[in-house]
Amino acid sequence: MIIAPSLLAANYGQFAKETLRADRSGADWLHLDIMDGHFVPNISFGPGVVRTIRPLTRLFFDVHLMCSKPEILLEPFAKAGADEIIVHVELGERVPQLLWKIRSLGKKVGLSANPPTAISEVLPYLDQIDSLLVMTVNPGFGGQEFIHETLPKVQQADAWRRERSLSYHIGVDGGVNFKTAAECARAGADVFVSGTTLFGQRNLKAAVKKMRQIVTSSHASIARAPAAAAVS
Ligand code: DX5
Ligand code: ZN
Repeated sequence: MIIAPSLLAANYGQFAKETLRADRSGADWLHLDIMDGHFVPNISFGPGVVRTIRPLTRLFFDVHLMCSKPEILLEPFAKAGADEIIVHVELGERVPQLLWKIRSLGKKVGLSANPPTAISEVLPYLDQIDSLLVMTVNPGFGGQEFIHETLPKVQQADAWRRERSLSYHIGVDGGVNFKTAAECARAGADVFVSGTTLFGQRNLKAAVKKMRQIVTSSHASIARAPAAAAVS
């Protein structure tokens, strides 16, 4: 179970301090939402910020590119210290080349799908990715309400993972709070990206701990096999 606070919801005047806060919170990953004002109607921050905060923590940097031209950004973010780079399946025929390029840069490979996009679009890539990120809001802004209609996509991704004996992570991103995180965990998610709910708390450490407890006790594998869990 991976808890990934999103820096998008941090105090923009204090990226360094907020990174240290995440570092000490017990979180597993730091999720970095990169918006270009074109793929989504908002702009966040670039590789310069990532490079600046990289020496402050050993947290896994999960870079989510909500960008129309990731081709020009892969190398800068790889050099800035990304551990994983996620691109969007909506980029269509450019996806295979993008995934290959991320892998060739020595980074973990992620693929994301927006709420209106059929989950079947990711099928050709399942054996090439480390993470599948199911968007549970329409990307662009933090603090939006979770779209429940996306949950069947998480279930489908989990079913494919088991059927094909693959081990990609299934992440959820957007509107993930203590209640919706439990629903996502029951559906099969194992990476929980959360901005407002985590960074919004004074005590980030307590919030991460609470989310971890909730998702661990709700996870699909436990829900599916209570007898096995009880005897082990
Ligand atoms: C897309 C972003 C957001 C964000 C999560 O706009 O990828 O989903 O980081 O933020 P919250 O948890 O505030 O919805
Ligand atoms: Zn994101």
